[in-house]
Amino acid sequence: MGKDKVNESPLSDLPGVGPAIADKLIEAGYADMMSIAVSSPRELSDVAEIGEPTAAKIIQAARKQADIGSFETGTALLERRSKIGSITTGSKTFDELMGGKGFDSQAITELFGEFGSGKTQLVHQMCVNAQLPKEKGGLDSHVFYIDTENTFRPNRIIQMAEAYELDPDEVLNKIHVARAYNSSHQMLLVDKVMELSKEFSPRLLIVDSLTSQFRAEYVGRGALADRQQKLNKHMHDLLRWSDLNNGVVVVTNQVAAKPDAFFGDPTRPIGGHIVGHTATFRLYLRKSKGGKRIARLIDSPHLPEGEAVFSVSEIGIRD
Ligand code: GTP
Ligand code: MG
Repeated sequence: MGKDKVNESPLSDLPGVGPAIADKLIEAGYADMMSIAVSSPRELSDVAEIGEPTAAKIIQAARKQADIGSFETGTALLERRSKIGSITTGSKTFDELMGGKGFDSQAITELFGEFGSGKTQLVHQMCVNAQLPKEKGGLDSHVFYIDTENTFRPNRIIQMAEAYELDPDEVLNKIHVARAYNSSHQMLLVDKVMELSKEFSPRLLIVDSLTSQFRAEYVGRGALADRQQKLNKHMHDLLRWSDLNNGVVVVTNQVAAKPDAFFGDPTRPIGGHIVGHTATFRLYLRKSKGGKRIARLIDSPHLPEGEAVFSVSEIGIRD
Protein backbone atom coordinates (compact mmCIF):
# COMPACT_ATOMS: atom_id res chain seq x y z
CA MET A 1 0.00 0.00 0.00
CA GLY A 2 3.05 2.30 0.13
CA LYS A 3 2.06 3.87 3.43
CA ASP A 4 5.65 4.90 4.07
CA LYS A 5 5.42 7.84 1.70
CA VAL A 6 4.51 11.14 3.30
CA ASN A 7 1.46 13.09 2.25
CA GLU A 8 0.22 10.21 0.22
CA SER A 9 -3.22 10.60 -1.22
CA PRO A 10 -5.74 7.85 -0.43
CA LEU A 11 -6.29 7.65 -4.19
CA SER A 12 -2.91 6.03 -4.68
CA ASP A 13 -4.39 2.93 -3.01
CA LEU A 14 -6.31 2.45 -6.24
CA PRO A 15 -4.67 0.11 -8.73
CA GLY A 16 -3.17 2.00 -11.64
CA VAL A 17 -3.15 5.36 -9.85
CA GLY A 18 0.41 6.61 -9.40
CA PRO A 19 1.29 10.00 -7.93
CA ALA A 20 1.05 11.78 -11.30
CA ILE A 21 -2.45 10.49 -12.02
CA ALA A 22 -3.52 11.10 -8.41
CA ASP A 23 -2.40 14.73 -8.75
CA LYS A 24 -4.37 15.22 -11.95
CA LEU A 25 -7.47 13.70 -10.41
CA ILE A 26 -7.28 15.74 -7.24
CA GLU A 27 -6.64 18.92 -9.13
CA ALA A 28 -9.68 18.26 -11.28
CA GLY A 29 -11.77 17.89 -8.13
CA TYR A 30 -11.76 14.11 -7.76
CA ALA A 31 -10.21 14.23 -4.33
CA ASP A 32 -11.99 11.35 -2.62
CA MET A 33 -13.13 7.81 -3.39
CA MET A 34 -16.75 8.82 -3.72
CA SER A 35 -16.21 11.37 -6.47
CA ILE A 36 -14.31 8.77 -8.48
CA ALA A 37 -16.81 6.00 -7.72
CA VAL A 38 -19.62 8.06 -9.21
CA SER A 39 -17.73 9.30 -12.26
CA SER A 40 -17.78 7.83 -15.75
CA PRO A 41 -14.79 6.24 -17.54
CA ARG A 42 -15.08 8.92 -20.23
CA GLU A 43 -14.73 11.91 -17.87
CA LEU A 44 -12.03 10.23 -15.79
CA SER A 45 -9.99 9.34 -18.84
CA ASP A 46 -10.25 12.98 -19.94
CA VAL A 47 -9.09 14.60 -16.72
CA ALA A 48 -6.39 12.06 -15.87
CA GLU A 49 -5.23 11.58 -19.47
CA ILE A 50 -5.50 7.80 -19.26
CA GLY A 51 -7.24 5.25 -21.46
CA GLU A 52 -10.91 4.52 -20.85
CA PRO A 53 -10.34 0.84 -19.91
CA THR A 54 -7.86 1.94 -17.21
CA ALA A 55 -10.33 4.57 -16.04
CA ALA A 56 -13.06 1.93 -15.83
CA LYS A 57 -10.83 -0.27 -13.66
CA ILE A 58 -10.06 2.64 -11.34
CA ILE A 59 -13.76 3.43 -11.00
CA GLN A 60 -14.57 -0.18 -10.20
CA ALA A 61 -11.94 -0.25 -7.47
CA ALA A 62 -13.15 3.07 -6.07
CA ARG A 63 -16.70 1.72 -5.89
CA LYS A 64 -15.49 -1.13 -3.70
CA GLN A 65 -13.65 1.25 -1.36
CA ALA A 66 -16.06 4.18 -1.22
CA ASP A 67 -18.67 4.35 1.46
CA ILE A 68 -21.63 4.44 -0.87
CA GLY A 69 -24.00 5.21 1.99
CA SER A 70 -27.41 3.91 2.80
CA PHE A 71 -30.94 4.77 1.82
CA GLU A 72 -33.32 6.79 3.90
CA THR A 73 -37.03 6.80 3.26
CA GLY A 74 -38.67 9.99 2.09
CA THR A 75 -40.55 10.00 5.37
CA ALA A 76 -37.35 9.91 7.41
CA LEU A 77 -35.87 12.68 5.26
CA LEU A 78 -38.96 14.81 5.64
CA GLU A 79 -38.86 14.25 9.38
CA ARG A 80 -35.21 15.31 9.54
CA ARG A 81 -35.78 18.37 7.37
CA SER A 82 -38.75 19.40 9.46
CA LYS A 83 -36.30 19.90 12.32
CA ILE A 84 -34.23 22.50 10.43
CA GLY A 85 -33.78 25.55 12.61
CA SER A 86 -32.52 28.96 11.64
CA ILE A 87 -30.79 32.00 13.05
CA THR A 88 -31.70 35.53 12.01
CA THR A 89 -29.04 37.77 10.47
CA GLY A 90 -30.48 40.80 12.21
CA SER A 91 -31.77 42.22 8.92
CA LYS A 92 -35.25 41.40 7.68
CA THR A 93 -34.43 41.79 3.99
CA PHE A 94 -31.35 39.62 4.42
CA ASP A 95 -33.43 36.95 6.20
CA GLU A 96 -35.95 37.06 3.37
CA LEU A 97 -33.19 36.48 0.83
CA MET A 98 -32.39 33.30 2.79
CA GLY A 99 -35.97 32.07 2.68
CA GLY A 100 -37.40 34.10 5.56
CA LYS A 101 -35.65 33.18 8.75
CA GLY A 102 -31.93 33.68 8.19
CA PHE A 103 -29.27 30.97 8.10
CA ASP A 104 -30.44 27.35 8.24
CA SER A 105 -29.18 24.39 10.23
CA GLN A 106 -28.15 21.14 8.50
CA ALA A 107 -26.25 23.36 6.09
CA ILE A 108 -23.08 25.33 5.55
CA THR A 109 -23.39 28.97 4.59
CA GLU A 110 -20.31 30.45 2.96
CA LEU A 111 -19.75 34.21 3.08
CA PHE A 112 -17.21 35.40 0.57
CA GLY A 113 -16.07 38.88 -0.27
CA GLU A 114 -13.25 41.39 -0.15
CA PHE A 115 -11.64 42.72 3.02
CA GLY A 116 -14.00 45.00 4.88
CA SER A 117 -17.09 43.58 3.17
CA GLY A 118 -18.58 42.69 6.56
CA LYS A 119 -17.95 38.94 6.88
CA THR A 120 -16.47 39.14 10.37
CA GLN A 121 -19.12 41.63 11.47
CA LEU A 122 -21.88 39.33 10.28
CA VAL A 123 -20.48 36.26 12.07
CA HIS A 124 -20.14 38.30 15.28
CA GLN A 125 -23.80 39.22 14.93
CA MET A 126 -24.70 35.56 14.38
CA CYS A 127 -22.95 34.66 17.67
CA VAL A 128 -25.31 36.97 19.50
CA ASN A 129 -28.41 36.11 17.48
CA ALA A 130 -27.95 32.36 18.01
CA GLN A 131 -28.61 33.00 21.68
CA LEU A 132 -31.94 34.74 21.16
CA PRO A 133 -35.03 32.71 21.98
CA LYS A 134 -36.73 30.99 19.03
CA GLU A 135 -39.54 33.51 18.82
CA LYS A 136 -36.94 36.25 18.34
CA GLY A 137 -35.11 34.44 15.57
CA GLY A 138 -32.47 32.53 17.53
CA LEU A 139 -31.89 28.96 18.66
CA ASP A 140 -31.25 29.72 22.31
CA SER A 141 -27.87 28.01 22.17
CA HIS A 142 -24.14 28.06 22.73
CA VAL A 143 -21.79 28.96 19.89
CA PHE A 144 -18.38 27.67 18.78
CA TYR A 145 -16.06 30.02 16.93
CA ILE A 146 -12.83 29.01 15.18
CA ASP A 147 -10.81 32.18 14.72
CA THR A 148 -7.94 31.91 12.25
CA GLU A 149 -7.14 35.59 11.81
CA ASN A 150 -7.36 36.77 15.40
CA THR A 151 -10.27 39.06 14.60
CA PHE A 152 -12.78 37.91 17.22
CA ARG A 153 -13.59 40.94 19.38
CA PRO A 154 -15.46 40.45 22.68
CA ASN A 155 -16.10 44.20 22.81
CA ARG A 156 -18.03 44.04 19.58
CA ILE A 157 -20.16 41.22 21.04
CA ILE A 158 -20.88 43.40 24.09
CA GLN A 159 -22.09 46.25 21.86
CA MET A 160 -24.32 43.92 19.85
CA ALA A 161 -25.70 42.19 22.95
CA GLU A 162 -26.52 45.50 24.58
CA ALA A 163 -28.37 46.62 21.48
CA TYR A 164 -30.75 43.67 22.11
CA GLU A 165 -30.81 44.35 25.84
CA LEU A 166 -29.17 41.01 26.54
CA ASP A 167 -26.75 40.56 29.43
CA PRO A 168 -23.34 40.86 27.70
CA ASP A 169 -21.59 38.63 30.23
CA GLU A 170 -24.07 35.85 29.70
CA VAL A 171 -23.72 36.18 25.94
CA LEU A 172 -19.91 36.10 26.05
CA ASN A 173 -20.04 33.08 28.32
CA LYS A 174 -21.85 31.06 25.69
CA ILE A 175 -19.37 31.81 22.90
CA HIS A 176 -16.45 29.36 22.88
CA VAL A 177 -13.60 30.77 20.84
CA ALA A 178 -10.42 29.01 19.76
CA ARG A 179 -7.60 30.52 17.81
CA ALA A 180 -6.35 28.25 14.98
CA TYR A 181 -2.62 28.60 14.47
CA ASN A 182 -2.36 26.73 11.20
CA SER A 183 -4.56 24.72 8.86
CA SER A 184 -3.96 21.35 10.57
CA HIS A 185 -4.81 22.90 13.92
CA GLN A 186 -7.93 24.39 12.36
CA MET A 187 -9.03 20.94 11.18
CA LEU A 188 -8.31 19.37 14.57
CA LEU A 189 -10.41 22.03 16.24
CA VAL A 190 -13.47 20.71 14.39
CA ASP A 191 -12.88 17.32 16.06
CA LYS A 192 -12.65 19.14 19.38
CA VAL A 193 -15.92 20.97 18.69
CA MET A 194 -17.52 17.63 17.85
CA GLU A 195 -16.45 16.29 21.24
CA LEU A 196 -17.50 19.39 23.21
CA SER A 197 -20.84 19.52 21.44
CA LYS A 198 -22.06 16.70 23.71
CA GLU A 199 -21.59 19.00 26.66
CA PHE A 200 -22.85 22.34 25.30
CA SER A 201 -25.30 21.39 22.52
CA PRO A 202 -24.24 24.31 20.32
CA ARG A 203 -26.34 25.11 17.26
CA LEU A 204 -23.88 27.49 15.60
CA LEU A 205 -20.32 26.90 14.44
CA ILE A 206 -18.30 29.70 12.85
CA VAL A 207 -15.02 29.39 10.95
CA ASP A 208 -13.55 32.84 10.25
CA SER A 209 -11.70 32.47 7.97
CA LEU A 210 -12.09 29.07 6.34
CA THR A 211 -9.30 29.57 3.82
CA SER A 212 -6.71 32.08 5.07
CA GLN A 213 -4.41 29.52 6.71
CA PHE A 214 -4.67 27.17 3.74
CA ARG A 215 -3.93 29.99 1.38
CA ALA A 216 -0.85 31.05 3.32
CA GLU A 217 0.53 27.52 3.73
CA TYR A 218 -0.11 25.88 0.40
CA VAL A 219 1.65 28.19 -2.00
CA GLY A 220 2.28 27.56 -5.67
CA ARG A 221 0.80 25.25 -8.25
CA GLY A 222 2.42 22.12 -6.83
CA ALA A 223 0.61 22.61 -3.52
CA LEU A 224 -2.81 23.25 -5.01
CA ALA A 225 -3.93 19.63 -5.18
CA ASP A 226 -2.96 19.03 -1.58
CA ARG A 227 -4.72 22.18 -0.43
CA GLN A 228 -7.92 21.30 -2.25
CA GLN A 229 -7.92 17.82 -0.78
CA LYS A 230 -7.50 19.15 2.77
CA LEU A 231 -10.15 21.80 2.27
CA ASN A 232 -12.50 19.17 0.92
CA LYS A 233 -12.05 17.07 4.05
CA HIS A 234 -12.45 20.12 6.28
CA MET A 235 -15.72 21.09 4.59
CA HIS A 236 -17.06 17.55 4.94
CA ASP A 237 -16.15 17.49 8.64
CA LEU A 238 -18.09 20.73 9.08
CA LEU A 239 -21.06 19.33 7.18
CA ARG A 240 -21.03 16.26 9.38
CA TRP A 241 -21.06 18.43 12.50
CA SER A 242 -24.03 20.36 11.15
CA ASP A 243 -25.93 17.14 10.39
CA LEU A 244 -25.19 15.50 13.73
CA ASN A 245 -26.01 18.60 15.77
CA ASN A 246 -28.75 20.03 13.57
CA GLY A 247 -26.49 23.07 13.60
CA VAL A 248 -25.84 26.15 11.51
CA VAL A 249 -22.33 26.40 10.05
CA VAL A 250 -21.09 29.74 8.76
CA VAL A 251 -17.67 30.02 7.11
CA THR A 252 -15.99 33.07 5.65
CA ASN A 253 -13.82 33.14 2.58
CA GLN A 254 -11.69 35.75 0.88
CA VAL A 255 -11.60 36.42 -2.82
CA ALA A 256 -8.60 36.30 -5.11
CA ALA A 257 -8.03 38.37 -8.21
CA LYS A 258 -9.06 36.52 -11.35
CA PRO A 259 -6.59 37.75 -13.94
CA ASP A 260 -8.42 36.25 -16.89
CA ALA A 261 -11.75 38.02 -16.25
CA PHE A 262 -12.48 40.66 -18.86
CA PHE A 263 -16.14 41.02 -18.00
CA GLY A 264 -18.09 40.84 -14.78
CA ASP A 265 -16.54 40.70 -11.36
CA PRO A 266 -12.78 40.19 -11.52
CA THR A 267 -12.66 38.25 -8.25
CA ARG A 268 -13.43 34.71 -7.19
CA PRO A 269 -13.59 32.90 -3.86
CA ILE A 270 -10.58 30.95 -2.64
CA GLY A 271 -10.87 27.18 -2.73
CA GLY A 272 -12.89 27.35 -5.91
CA HIS A 273 -15.42 24.66 -6.61
CA ILE A 274 -14.33 22.44 -3.70
CA VAL A 275 -15.65 24.93 -1.19
CA GLY A 276 -18.46 26.08 -3.44
CA HIS A 277 -19.90 22.64 -4.06
CA THR A 278 -19.90 21.62 -0.42
CA ALA A 279 -21.36 24.87 0.89
CA THR A 280 -25.14 24.72 0.83
CA PHE A 281 -25.56 28.46 0.51
CA ARG A 282 -22.99 30.82 -0.99
CA LEU A 283 -23.27 34.52 -0.31
CA TYR A 284 -21.19 37.16 -1.98
CA LEU A 285 -20.84 40.25 0.21
CA ARG A 286 -19.72 43.60 -1.08
CA LYS A 287 -19.45 47.17 0.09
CA SER A 288 -21.85 49.79 -1.10
CA LYS A 289 -22.29 53.49 -0.35
CA GLY A 290 -22.40 54.83 3.21
CA GLY A 291 -21.92 51.78 5.46
CA LYS A 292 -24.33 49.75 3.34
CA ARG A 293 -23.51 46.22 2.28
CA ILE A 294 -24.98 44.02 -0.42
CA ALA A 295 -25.37 40.26 -0.05
CA ARG A 296 -25.91 38.23 -3.19
CA LEU A 297 -27.18 34.67 -2.91
CA ILE A 298 -25.50 32.33 -5.38
CA ASP A 299 -26.11 28.62 -6.00
CA SER A 300 -28.80 27.76 -3.52
CA PRO A 301 -30.59 24.40 -3.67
CA HIS A 302 -34.10 25.75 -3.35
CA LEU A 303 -34.03 29.55 -3.23
CA PRO A 304 -33.95 32.00 -6.13
CA GLU A 305 -30.79 34.01 -6.66
CA GLY A 306 -31.13 37.55 -5.44
CA GLU A 307 -29.67 40.38 -3.44
CA ALA A 308 -30.32 42.05 -0.13
CA VAL A 309 -29.05 45.39 1.13
CA PHE A 310 -28.15 45.60 4.79
CA SER A 311 -26.17 47.90 7.06
CA VAL A 312 -23.29 47.50 9.49
CA SER A 313 -23.35 50.02 12.28
CA GLU A 314 -22.53 50.46 15.96
CA ILE A 315 -25.47 48.27 16.99
CA GLY A 316 -24.61 45.57 14.44
CA ILE A 317 -26.29 44.15 11.35
CA ARG A 318 -29.67 45.69 10.49
CA ASP A 319 -31.83 46.53 7.48
P1 GTP B 1 -11.54 40.60 5.99
O1 GTP B 1 -11.61 39.69 7.16
O2 GTP B 1 -10.41 41.55 6.05
O3 GTP B 1 -11.59 39.89 4.68
O4 GTP B 1 -12.84 41.56 6.03
P2 GTP B 1 -14.30 41.28 6.58
O5 GTP B 1 -15.21 41.01 5.44
O6 GTP B 1 -14.27 40.31 7.68
O7 GTP B 1 -14.68 42.71 7.13
P3 GTP B 1 -15.26 43.08 8.53
O8 GTP B 1 -16.47 42.31 8.83
O9 GTP B 1 -14.19 43.08 9.53
O10 GTP B 1 -15.75 44.56 8.24
C1 GTP B 1 -15.09 45.69 8.72
C2 GTP B 1 -15.97 46.88 8.43
O11 GTP B 1 -17.15 46.80 9.25
C3 GTP B 1 -15.31 48.17 8.83
O12 GTP B 1 -14.57 48.68 7.76
C4 GTP B 1 -16.50 49.04 9.16
O13 GTP B 1 -16.99 49.61 7.97
C5 GTP B 1 -17.53 48.08 9.67
N1 GTP B 1 -17.56 48.11 11.14
C6 GTP B 1 -16.88 47.34 11.99
N2 GTP B 1 -17.15 47.66 13.27
C7 GTP B 1 -18.02 48.66 13.22
C8 GTP B 1 -18.66 49.45 14.20
O14 GTP B 1 -18.49 49.28 15.41
N3 GTP B 1 -19.48 50.43 13.76
C9 GTP B 1 -19.68 50.64 12.43
N4 GTP B 1 -20.49 51.63 12.06
N5 GTP B 1 -19.10 49.91 11.48
C10 GTP B 1 -18.26 48.95 11.87
MG1 MG C 1 -12.76 39.26 8.64
